[in-house]
Amino acid sequence: MKKVAMTIGVLIITACFLSGSLASQEMPGPGPAELWNYITKVSPYKEWSFWPDHQGMQPGRAPHGPLHKVYVNNHALNSPKPPVQYGAIQVKENYSKAKELKAITVMYKAHGYNPKDGDWFWVKYTPDGKAGPFGKPAGCIGCHGTRASNDFILVHEFR
Ligand code: HEC
Repeated sequence: MKKVAMTIGVLIITACFLSGSLASQEMPGPGPAELWNYITKVSPYKEWSFWPDHQGMQPGRAPHGPLHKVYVNNHALNSPKPPVQYGAIQVKENYSKAKELKAITVMYKAHGYNPKDGDWFWVKYTPDGKAGPFGKPAGCIGCHGTRASNDFILVHEFR
């Protein structure tokens, strides 16, 4: 009897451990609402890091605005060369000159989403999470596509 109880105990602990580690690996689908939920609640992007060569507030160019910060998750950071690993996310906060947050633009590397253009899901949010444009906008892809060999990433150079 004691043995049975112990076996059940071990099984329960194993199940908890497995579901916990699976949950932490679960990535959102390539959609604006799932991704917003992921970057604000499941894995808040403000707790992520910056590219080593692009830390904190930086001056930017059109169309994104005069100042920005680009946060990147571990999937991106742990990618030594392009293309970055699936699951990589870059969150760019776009600020006015007066350092007011104006928009949040995100790139999410989603397996099989858009293989001909680097499998990136693109989205622009208002600061409170309203999305548009999103998906495979020709504008985002056209501009970032000039650096397709750097996996469409402009603020970080892979060496
Ligand atoms: C006219 C060109 C242009 C267009 C269109 C454009 N971007 Fe960018 N993007 C840039 C430039 C230049 C940078 C480098 C940082 C800066 O200067 O602001 C950048 C940087 C970024 C970054 C930081 C990571 C990286 O790749 O360097 C993200 C995320 C991003 N853009 C998302 C988007 C999304 C989403 C769209 C479409 C809604 C978009 N961009 C449209 C030019 C563009």
